[in-house]
Amino acid sequence: MNLRRMRKNHALLFGALGMGALALTCAGGAVAAVQGQCSNCHTMHASQDNQAMGSGPFDVLLLFDCLGCHTGTNRPAGTDPGGTVAPSNAPGVLDTVDPFAADTFLAGGNFYSVEQGNDAHGHNVKVLPNGHTDGDLGNIPPGYDGTTPTVAALESPFLSCGGATGCHGDLTVSRAESEAQSFAAIAGAHHGQTGVVDGSTVGQSFRFLLGMPGGEDDDYEFTTSASDHNIYPGKARTVDSDIADGGDGALTMSGLCAKCHANFHNSSPAGTSTGIEGSGWGNPWIRHPTDFDFSGLGGEYAVNMDVYNPLVPVGRDIDAVGAGNFQGLVGSADQATNIGATGGNIVICLSCHRAHGSQYDDILRWDYKDMVAGAPTGGMADNGCFYCHATKDGA
Ligand code: HEC
Ligand code: HEC
Ligand code: HEC
Ligand code: HEC
Ligand code: HEC
Repeated sequence: MNLRRMRKNHALLFGALGMGALALTCAGGAVAAVQGQCSNCHTMHASQDNQAMGSGPFDVLLLFDCLGCHTGTNRPAGTDPGGTVAPSNAPGVLDTVDPFAADTFLAGGNFYSVEQGNDAHGHNVKVLPNGHTDGDLGNIPPGYDGTTPTVAALESPFLSCGGATGCHGDLTVSRAESEAQSFAAIAGAHHGQTGVVDGSTVGQSFRFLLGMPGGEDDDYEFTTSASDHNIYPGKARTVDSDIADGGDGALTMSGLCAKCHANFHNSSPAGTSTGIEGSGWGNPWIRHPTDFDFSGLGGEYAVNMDVYNPLVPVGRDIDAVGAGNFQGLVGSADQATNIGATGGNIVICLSCHRAHGSQYDDILRWDYKDMVAGAPTGGMADNGCFYCHATKDGA
C-alpha cells in the first residue's frame, strides 16, 4: 500500500487538520446519527486564514471524502463506539495494515486485499486509490443480464459506493463523477438515523442501502458470536422471480446483489436472465439457490441450525419478520438459533460471500480450497459449505 499516494488523493487524517474526535450515541443496537460540532466535519469555504483546508474542497462542504473518514484500523468493542476508526468514529472499510490477520475487519469485510492488488478478493470500487480496476472482469458484473436499469451506466462513472452504479443510497441517482454520485445517493443519511431500520429512508435503511430493513449489530460485527451479529433480510420465494426486490417495496440482501448479478438470483420475464431454477422451484437447481427457505428440508440441512453461525449467516424472510421488526431481533434470544427462528432459514448471497472484500478468491467468507468432501481442511468441518451440507464433511 502506498500510503503517501493515498494521503495525497484522499483526506485521510482528521488529526492532520487538528480536528477533535467526534461523539456518537448508540441506541437499541443500531448506531444513531452523527453528532458533534459542524466544524469537525464541514468547512463552509474550504479555506482558513486564506489557506486551503487539507486537500479539498470536497462534496457537501465536507473536510473529507468517503474514504477520508472510512479508512483506518477498526478499534475493538469496549472503545465507544466499537468497530470504528479513530478519530472519525466511522466504520472502517479500507485498512492500511492487514485487517484479516489482525481480525479487525467488519461484517462487509475490507477493501484492503483488493487495494493490495488481489482483484478477485473484492469489489474494485472506483474510489479506491489503487484497486479500482479488476484486471480480469473489468467493469462487467458476472451474471449481468444486460438490462438492469441501475447498471446501464456501469461503464461510467464505474462501480461506485452509492447510486446507479453502486449499492448504498438511492440507486436511481446518477452523476458523471463517482464520488459526487455516492454523496447525492446517500444525501441526508448520516444525519437521518433514528435507531429505526425499516428501509423507509436512506438513514433508516440497513447500512444506508435504501429500502432494505435489517438488524444492525452495534459494532458492525467487529466481534461476533451466535448472539452478537447482524440480521439479514431474505425472502422465502416460491418462484424464480425478482420479487425479492419488489413485493414490499423492500429489498432483500440478495435482491440488491441481483441488481448487477441477476442471473445468479432470478430469471427475468424478458428472458434476458436465466436464473437459478431448472424445471421448477426446487431440486435440481441449475445454480446455487438464494432467497430460498430451507427450514422445511430437514436432513443434513437441520443438523447445525440450532446455533447461528456468523461466518455462514442465514437470512430471515422479510414478510414473516416484517420490515420494522428486524432491529428488534438484535440482542433477542431468537437471534442465537436458526431452528424455529422467525422468518425461517434463507440462503443468501452473504451466506458464502462478503460484500466489500475478503482475503479469499471470489470474495468468499472462507477458503473454498478447504471444502474437501469427506476430509475438510482448515478446521472447516460443520463450517462453510458444511454448515448447511452437514453430512458431506464425513465428520
Ligand atoms: C452496482 C453493481 C454491483 C452490485 C450491486 C454488486 N456487485 Fe458484485 N460485482 C460487480 C462488478 C462490476 C464486478 C466485477 C468487477 C469487480 O470485481 O469489481 C463484481 C464482482 C463480484 C464478484 C467476483 C469478484 C472477483 O473480483 O472475482 C463477486 C463474488 C460479487 N461481485 C459478489 C457480489 C455480492 C455478494 C453482491 C451483493 C452483496 C454484489 N456482488 C453486488 C458489481 C456489483
Ligand atoms: C461527524 C461528522 C459530521 C458532523 C459533526 C456534521 N455533519 Fe453534516 N454531514 C456529514 C456527512 C458525512 C454528510 C454527507 C453525507 C450524508 O448526507 O449523509 C453531511 C451532510 C450534511 C448536509 C446535507 C445533507 C442533509 O442532511 O441535509 C447538511 C445540510 C449538513 N450536513 C449540515 C450539518 C450541520 C449544520 C452540522 C452541525 C450542526 C453538521 N452537518 C455536522 C457529517 C457531519
Ligand atoms: C465526515 C466523515 C464521514 C464522511 C465524509 C463519510 N462518512 Fe459515512 N460514516 C461516518 C460516521 C461517523 C459513521 C458512523 C455513524 C453513522 O452511522 O452515521 C458513518 C457511517 C456510515 C455507514 C454505516 C451506516 C449504518 O447504518 O450503520 C455507511 C454505509 C456510510 N457511512 C457510508 C458513507 C459513504 C458512502 C460516504 C461517501 C459518499 C461516507 N459514508 C462519507 C462518517 C463519514
Ligand atoms: C446457508 C446454507 C448453505 C450453504 C452455506 C451452502 N449451501 Fe448448498 N444448498 C443449500 C440448500 C438449502 C440447497 C437446496 C437443497 C434442495 O433444494 O434440496 C443447496 C443445494 C446445493 C447443491 C445441489 C443443488 C441441487 O440441485 O440440489 C449443491 C451442489 C450445493 N448446494 C453445493 C454447495 C457448496 C459447494 C457450498 C459451499 C461453497 C454450499 N452449497 C453452501 C444450502 C447451503
Ligand atoms: C453456497 C455458496 C454461495 C452462494 C449462496 C452464492 N455464491 Fe457466489 N460464489 C460461490 C463460490 C464457491 C464461487 C466460486 C466459483 C464457483 O464455484 O462458481 C462463487 C462465485 C461468484 C461470482 C464470480 C463468478 C465469476 O464468473 O467469476 C460472483 C459474481 C458471485 N459468486 C455472486 C453471487 C451472488 C450475487 C450471489 C447471490 C445471488 C451468490 N454469489 C451466492 C458461492 C456462493
